[in-house]
Amino acid sequence: MLHRIRNRIAAQHLLWKSRRAYVVETDLGPLLVMPGVLDPVATKVGAWLAHAMAHEVQVAERWVDMGCGTGVVGLAMASAGAEVVCADIDPACVRNARANGAARGLSLSVVESDLFDALDRLTTSDGVVYNAPFWQGDGRGVAFGRAMYAGADFEAIRRYRAAALGFGARRTLIALSEAAPNHAGALAAFGPHRRLVRERVAREWLVLLEAEASRDPA
Ligand SMILES: C[S@@+](CC[C@H](N)C(=O)[O-])C[C@H]1O[C@@H](n2cnc3c(N)ncnc32)[C@H](O)[C@@H]1O
Repeated sequence: MLHRIRNRIAAQHLLWKSRRAYVVETDLGPLLVMPGVLDPVATKVGAWLAHAMAHEVQVAERWVDMGCGTGVVGLAMASAGAEVVCADIDPACVRNARANGAARGLSLSVVESDLFDALDRLTTSDGVVYNAPFWQGDGRGVAFGRAMYAGADFEAIRRYRAAALGFGARRTLIALSEAAPNHAGALAAFGPHRRLVRERVAREWLVLLEAEASRDPA
């Protein structure tokens, strides 16, 4: 309960801060955060994941940055030499990621899409990574609700795994925070996996996980 209240206050603070576009400093240099788009530095996970993914991808691999927001993760992968498609359901995020890509002269493809719906199924994808909404609850009426809340039974995480495996991505990755209440529920919703990275960032343990489809129940 306390977690939930604290999270709502943090979200309201972000909303207040994000009434106007502003710039944050990241490993990649300055990054524009447009109104209504989640700040990857204030929320920690996005900026951390960008750094982690720059080490995870290989040159010329094809990756999807699902739920791209500002595009911070996709930009890091593209800077590391991967070919990247960024996708987000929110048009404001699509505009924001395009602007950040253009500012760096990176040819980043950014698509408005509900998960993989608008992505080319024929495109072979080496991997997809999602800094997914991982707070339990519906997030209705909450600032950044769709960006942060996964549903009462972590439906957003379940849907992501099923859709990514259906899309045919060779690797399906997700970032989660152990600080979220019912982290065990989020892990269970993601299903069988192996942990690639676990790191403490400002008193919060963050993890990068990879789905192991071979261990899915038949
Ligand atoms: C936790 S934020 C991550 C933003 C950014 N990747 C980062 O790390 O800062 C989750 C993002 O997923 C997007 N999102 C939520 N549901 C989605 C869906 N069904 N399909 C695509 N994107 C979705 C939200 O709009 C939001 O931008």
